[in-house]
Amino acid sequence: MAAGWQAVDDYIAGKLLGDDEALAAALAHNAAQGLPPIDVSAAQGKMLFLLAQMAGAKRILEVGTLGGYSTIWLARALPAGGALVTLELEAHHAAVARANLERAGVADKVDIRVGPAAESLAAMAPGAPFDFVFIDADKQNNALYVDEAIRLGRSGTTIIVDNVVREGGVLDANSGDERIAGTRALFDRLSADPRLDATAIQTVGAKGWDGFVLARVR
Ligand code: SAH
Ligand code: DHB
Ligand code: MG
Repeated sequence: MAAGWQAVDDYIAGKLLGDDEALAAALAHNAAQGLPPIDVSAAQGKMLFLLAQMAGAKRILEVGTLGGYSTIWLARALPAGGALVTLELEAHHAAVARANLERAGVADKVDIRVGPAAESLAAMAPGAPFDFVFIDADKQNNALYVDEAIRLGRSGTTIIVDNVVREGGVLDANSGDERIAGTRALFDRLSADPRLDATAIQTVGAKGWDGFVLARVR
């Protein structure tokens, strides 16, 4: 990571994000419970919060909960009566997330479903549509998760996919890393999918050089 990236993220957080006991406690609890520190950064979490509010999201879907750090940011964006469904493979991660969400006072808005997200999604019938979807789990399945986001969304649904640049790794067409192959399959899907308008934005900061896809269902 370039020397200045973390320092500038610290500067941004100091100026614009403030101290947040629930979020700090969530990160500490994650570390104490052995979860990997791969949550979105604070500035990215606030961006998710702002985007969900800008979208007027009342129903949010998240794929990949970990300890619920991004979940807390997104749940805080919900209006009264709003709801968030978050999908997590690991029961231990989900248990840590539940405690973090309770401490943050948003547990009543969040439904954590444990198991492979592909199965949890397949079990979901289209009903009240999701307004906003954050995809941040196993990168191999990203194209499938976008398909499911469209099936469970509506015209205007916002879709964000994390980690689509990976220090430029996305350019490696012969990568043996199935996460890179999955990300390239996502771009192939998006480039050919008439159901979406999409872009991708590169980012630097506390998470290194990475990026996210931003899409809107037509
Ligand atoms: N969104 C979180 C970080 C998620 S890390 C945050 O920013 O705070 C990715 C998570 O996806 C991990 O907890 C991992 O266990 C989970 N995951 C991996 N494969 C999965 C799968 N097939 N289905 C659901 N979750 C999965
Ligand atoms: C990894 C996963 C993430 O979602 C992330 O934001 C950073 C790293 C990982 O699996 O290494
Ligand atoms: Mg991520």
